[in-house]
Amino acid sequence: MTETIIRAGVIGHPIGHSRSPLIHRSWLARHRIDGRYDAHDISPADLISFVAAMRDGAMAGCNVTIPHKETVLAHLDRLTDTARTIGAVNTVWREGDRLIGDNTDTYGFAANLDEHAPDWDRAGGRALVLGAGGAALAIVHALIERGFAAVNIANRTPDRAQRLADRFGGPCRAVALDDPDLYRDANLVVNTTSLTMGEQMDERPWPGLERLADGATVTDIVYTPLKTSLLNAAERQGFRTVDGLGMLLHQAVPGFERWFGVRPAVTPALREQLVADLDR
Ligand code: ATR
Repeated sequence: MTETIIRAGVIGHPIGHSRSPLIHRSWLARHRIDGRYDAHDISPADLISFVAAMRDGAMAGCNVTIPHKETVLAHLDRLTDTARTIGAVNTVWREGDRLIGDNTDTYGFAANLDEHAPDWDRAGGRALVLGAGGAALAIVHALIERGFAAVNIANRTPDRAQRLADRFGGPCRAVALDDPDLYRDANLVVNTTSLTMGEQMDERPWPGLERLADGATVTDIVYTPLKTSLLNAAERQGFRTVDGLGMLLHQAVPGFERWFGVRPAVTPALREQLVADLDR
């Protein structure tokens, strides 16, 4: 008997925390697709054999998370321009016997702001990125694609901010995290650090945030809690805020479409489902 079920999943090590199964299973049910999406705990030693089985047809593709996002590159047949620019892959799909790697964080970041702050990328804007890790890489790429005239990068370890700015060049510049004018006239602030992760209540002040440009947008890629101290401070000062949960939802869209052939919608109901799961 030929099996018709389409399989996809997420690989990582450990993998227990992943919200991807909830998102993709919700879309499978909604679109009545005969498919499966499972979490696979794959150790670094098992990565090559897992990828080989996928190339042989065991799966239509997968999401990739820590610690495989960079190491998987070497085992794929082609990378999208975005994945190559970022140097990390979070989504893999199969075309015949070839595996293609993409990074959808850039897309997910921009799509979240498109949804919740429609004119966030007005031409020639000034952006400030806090942090210089892997997430910052995907976001700086999005900001350049969307035509920001200035992309300032501030990081606890200044060298890392400098390296990120040098990597992209153009509008990017490393700036000091303790510069009193850090926020001055910025149209967009993005927190990519783990500083706000797991905050209970407004744990830290954000001095200088009031100097943002009128109508500025402030977003945090952290989504636990949904309302970080940064977003609360920005909201109190009348700026527009966007939480990070939408990025998690939107970055999942391109993979689902590749594997299952349907472009899924990020709906308020799915968001609520995820919020309830995070609260558990
Ligand atoms: P990711 O890939 O998710 O971006 P990462 O590469 O570990 O993760 O980067 C985490 C970011 O959060 C870094 O910019 C880190 O700053 P350093 O480069 O100085 O380590 C930042 N970060 C983490 N904890 C921080 C803290 N307590 N204060 C300020 N920045 C912090």
